[in-house]
Amino acid sequence: MKIFVTGGSGRMGSELLPRLIKHGWEVIAPSSQTVSITNVDSVTRAISTAQPDIVLHMAAYTDVAKAEQDHTACYAVNVVGSRNIARASAQIGARLVHISTDYVFDGEKGMYKETDAPNPSNYYSLTKAIAEEAARATTNSLIVRTSFKDAVWKYPMAFADQFTSADYTDVIASELKLLLLNLSSIQADVLHVVTERKSILELAKRRNPHVQAGTIVGAKVHIPPDVSLDSSRWQDLKRQFM
Ligand SMILES: NC(=O)c1ccc[n+]([C@@H]2O[C@H](COP(=O)([O-])OP(=O)(O)OC[C@H]3O[C@@H](n4cnc5c(N)ncnc54)[C@H](OP(=O)(O)O)[C@@H]3O)[C@@H](O)[C@H]2O)c1
Repeated sequence: MKIFVTGGSGRMGSELLPRLIKHGWEVIAPSSQTVSITNVDSVTRAISTAQPDIVLHMAAYTDVAKAEQDHTACYAVNVVGSRNIARASAQIGARLVHISTDYVFDGEKGMYKETDAPNPSNYYSLTKAIAEEAARATTNSLIVRTSFKDAVWKYPMAFADQFTSADYTDVIASELKLLLLNLSSIQADVLHVVTERKSILELAKRRNPHVQAGTIVGAKVHIPPDVSLDSSRWQDLKRQFM
């Protein structure tokens, strides 16, 4: 299989790409210096030259705080860039796997299903929600909502009253690899690829048993209490693949 990847140098890309290469896949993952996804001609040329079977779109402007200060830069990468990737993928008939986020939901209810309506609560999330529509508008696309943390929990505290279905980058990279290897059997247009619902504290303690419990009550910034995703659709599919 030949796969064209955006965001290959990022946190997830650095975990996932070596796994695909080890599996014998041909991976083409240009940096933003070589192919900026904001440049439609550059993206179209790169994807058309590569002629991949799959386009895995992970590149994004991911700094949530900076995005509030620089809407233009965030919009250019997350919305215009995603639109360019979706169009270029469709032009050569490649399957597009578009990586999105649990943050398209507001985090007030938790256990969001693929069919729930997004309700972004910051500018980054808004652009990711719009980007999903660019992917959805192309045939042969799969939107994957996921969430991951650095493989080591490096903070002294974690919230006991904030809930997530995120997992560590290595854990989610294994899930994404399984998804990509079985992509031809997946008919869904949106999938939640995460693990079970848990508190952030529980997740942190898996890698750092000394971490202390904190609370979101009284935090200086708004912390969404529960951005967990219902991943039962993915868990059912996984049972067929393993
Ligand atoms: N991190 C999370 O907690 C989280 C949670 C849910 C979903 N996600 C989604 O998962 C995906 C990967 O996130 P990540 O945390 O691994 O990303 P990251 O570490 O922040 O890396 C961002 C990546 O995007 C690339 N990029 C940025 N601007 C670009 C441009 N103009 N053209 C081409 N590439 C560009 C960067 O490439 P260069 O290094 O070459 O500049 C880099 O590889 C994103 O779509 C993100 O929204 C992340």
